[in-house]
Amino acid sequence: MPAFYATAPGKIILYGEHAVVFGRPAIAVPVTEVKARVSIHADPLVLAGRVHLLSEATGVDTDLEHLPEDHPLRLALLGVIRLVKPVRLPACTIKISSTIPVAAGLGSGAAVSIALIRAFSSFLGKPLPDEHVNDLAYDVEKVHHGTPSGIDNTVIAYAMPVYFVRGQAVETFSVRHPFTMVIADSGIPSLTSSMVGKVRQGWEADRPWYEGIFDRVAELTRQARLAIERGDVHMLGPLMDENHALLVEMGVSSPELDHLVAVARQAGANGAKMSGGGGGGNMIAIVDASLAKNLTSVMINAGAVRVITTLISGTLLG
Ligand code: PMV
Repeated sequence: MPAFYATAPGKIILYGEHAVVFGRPAIAVPVTEVKARVSIHADPLVLAGRVHLLSEATGVDTDLEHLPEDHPLRLALLGVIRLVKPVRLPACTIKISSTIPVAAGLGSGAAVSIALIRAFSSFLGKPLPDEHVNDLAYDVEKVHHGTPSGIDNTVIAYAMPVYFVRGQAVETFSVRHPFTMVIADSGIPSLTSSMVGKVRQGWEADRPWYEGIFDRVAELTRQARLAIERGDVHMLGPLMDENHALLVEMGVSSPELDHLVAVARQAGANGAKMSGGGGGGNMIAIVDASLAKNLTSVMINAGAVRVITTLISGTLLG
């Protein structure tokens, strides 16, 4: 019996993080240079119903039934079984691997869930449509990330740039002129849920002030979408700079992220900002393609632990 494979890309938020939790739009894009990968093969000699999971990176080597009840892999698989309702569950081994750095705002958890949901539903003979894949992955995210907006699972499930507004139909959109981005990891671990909690606390203490900031983020995010669709790439850098300043005001940046942002700008990036939950994790810089290689070494010298260069285009690169 052939094996069933699925991959899912990483993702990065370009504009609108945090404000998106409060109903404003955000833009996120897939990062196809990193991937989660799942392969499933049937074990015809093993009793039906046994699902064995192997994930070297996370040290999982166990049967589905032995995973803790709230384990993301278990939640994803049971979600598929609930939707597909297989008459019989053939024994199988599921191998999971990923090149997406963990806890760095690159959507590694959502990507694993999505690759797993796709591969397992195909293995059961009923590949789920993107919409269902997305819904299931969101259910898993909710158990593990407090109150996620759903942007991670959405951009990864559709593998297209998305303009995301919580609770609204997903809008993918086109990129008129591809552009190059450098993603640099500060190496400081950060928990998105605690940064989201911090912003919520601030918002509860002073709603008008935060609402004002969120509105400004929303406005620049709308402008960024138009610029991407029209191919006005030169506008994207200044909008990133503006978005970073507002994230600093929200209190979610960090000295390390601010330093990397400043260094990227000095080195000739057209604009730079932190990305995602903040407090640590990644920053991004938009650059002319010819500068990307040089900026990589500049960022490493400035303390980044990992740098990924990605080309943002409107088409799925696989
Ligand atoms: O840290 P990341 O890239 O997973 O992004 C978090 C984005 C937030 O807007 C801060 C939270 C959310 O759920 O949208």
